[in-house]
Amino acid sequence: MPSAAPARYDAVARTLHWALGAALLAQMSFGFLLDELAPRNTPARAAVINLHKSCGLVLLLLIVLRLAWRLRHRAPPWPAAMPAWQRRAAGLGHGALYACMLLLPAAGYVASNFSKHGIKFFGRPLPPWGPDWPAAYAFFNGMHDVLGWSLAVLVAGHVAMAAKHAWIDRDGIVERMAFGRGAR
Ligand code: HEM
Ligand code: HEM
Repeated sequence: MPSAAPARYDAVARTLHWALGAALLAQMSFGFLLDELAPRNTPARAAVINLHKSCGLVLLLLIVLRLAWRLRHRAPPWPAAMPAWQRRAAGLGHGALYACMLLLPAAGYVASNFSKHGIKFFGRPLPPWGPDWPAAYAFFNGMHDVLGWSLAVLVAGHVAMAAKHAWIDRDGIVERMAFGRGAR
């Protein structure tokens, strides 16, 4: 169970936030650019898709670690002046970010197991545990697609809110997640 409330996020939470944040932005860009990098029905397609799948599975593991860490460590308390509705909105936004972060790669992983192509994890074949079932593949692939766009929208809102706290409210919220001298 979480213990006493700290003044800012601990070093592990901050490291995971920034490392995973950067990696997720890269992986999202990779996903949206797949068709430009390797158009469908070209020889390069399989290798590029499998690289995306492999990186996505590594990210899924890191996301699970991040969530497990977060569930065992309390977030710092909000500044006293922050209105209750803003605290609720921030909590909901963070919850939605975690849900999307987790479900997005999970949907991609499940989709790949309903396709005869399966996954080549950095060159090593992971045989699919499901049948080659186009309808199930299309369903989970569609989920992966919708969640990819949802995460992009949530991250845009999250970064905009962080900028507002840093430059308009100047209420110390961003310092809770910062490294170095600016951090509390
Ligand atoms: C956190 C990790 C991941 C992120 C952020 C991510 C993001 C994306 C995005 C943004 C797209 C483009 C969607 C679109 O154009 O509408 C995409 C496509 C795709 N992703 Fe992922 N992905 C992740 C993990 C995975 C995993 C683990 C797999 C499978 C094991 C996977 C398989 C695919 C495939 C096959 C496509 C192409 C779908 C198509 O064009 O039909 N992704 N991904
Ligand atoms: C430039 C990019 C980013 C900035 C400036 C930023 C900033 C912040 C800040 C300041 C907090 C702490 C808020 C608080 O005090 O409670 C935070 C928390 C959080 N951020 Fe980001 N972030 C960025 C990118 C991302 C990305 C890409 C993701 C995930 C896709 C993400 C997910 C989260 C989550 C889930 C939390 C809640 C932490 C928790 O309470 O467990 N962030 N972010």
